[in-house]
Amino acid sequence: MRQKILEILKKSSDYVSGEYLGETLGVSRTSIWKAIKQLRQEGYDIQAVSNRGYYLSQNKELYNAQEIEDGLGTKWLGKQVYFYKEIDSTNACIRRLAAEGAPEGTLAVAEAQSAGRGRRGKEWTSQEGVGIWMSLLLRPDISPNQTPLLTLLTGLAVCKAIQKTTDLPVQIKWPNDILIGGKKICGILTEMDGEMTRVNYVVVGIGINVNTEYFPEELEAIATSLKIENNGVAISRKKLIQAILTELEGYYEKYVKERDFAYFYEEYKSACVTIGQEVYTLGKEAVEGKAIDINPQGELMVQKADGSIVTVFSGEVSIRPRRKG
Ligand code: BTN
Repeated sequence: MRQKILEILKKSSDYVSGEYLGETLGVSRTSIWKAIKQLRQEGYDIQAVSNRGYYLSQNKELYNAQEIEDGLGTKWLGKQVYFYKEIDSTNACIRRLAAEGAPEGTLAVAEAQSAGRGRRGKEWTSQEGVGIWMSLLLRPDISPNQTPLLTLLTGLAVCKAIQKTTDLPVQIKWPNDILIGGKKICGILTEMDGEMTRVNYVVVGIGINVNTEYFPEELEAIATSLKIENNGVAISRKKLIQAILTELEGYYEKYVKERDFAYFYEEYKSACVTIGQEVYTLGKEAVEGKAIDINPQGELMVQKADGSIVTVFSGEVSIRPRRKG
């Protein structure tokens, strides 16, 4: 009933009487009033005026599990949403849920993370109320060495979703950072649980600076947010999550069916800003040179100073523009 009342109020631009709601839903006006009280407690701004009824003010966008599920056009991805005001890390949360047998597609979203994690063990700043901090549970029937490509596909899905929702000029920095004007707006942390030859599950963690207005001094030069790039106009987090899930479901289904990145690499390449840049890899065997291409396996092809070409696999290393001086 709560859900139906919400649907009616959302569609109406005027007050809706308690009598109309009661008759439409076949319940008493007292039950309607109780449900309205519950919705208010959840944060919905519902005004009640005698002889007129109820009016839902839609100025403030609500961000909760129900709002994310409503209007989500996916078949299975994100159909089970766990929403937290604050959690240690949504990646850690999905790991716990996976261990309890949660189904593929389970989504954890948090308003804030107290121990958000980035790649290479770095901390991930996850301010309250301004970002998308979310993780997905996948249980793909692929081999462990194919899982890094899921990170590339997630980057592509996020990039497409942002383009479609905001029109902002987003690009991918190989393997999976999303940038605007050279500054980072999104990072992806993929973690796998499995054995040598078998994937048990994969956690895909996505962090997006959506409506962040200020960054700590040490991040100012390298990070930005969608709102900053959108001339100060806020972006709907729930709509962006819905768009990401829709894009990712499509890419993921195709990838686990075909098990071949060749279907996506042209699209990935055209969104990728790294080609043509001077790069160096961080890892056991450092590689320096110019990124000249991305091959159908999703590997970065780097031409070294001596002219030789080496391929760099996203699962093994990270890559950054070479620092000057
Ligand atoms: C990176 O270093 O670029 C990856 C950052 C990934 C951050 C996201 S936020 C949601 C999820 N939970 C985490 O603890 N990390 C990921």
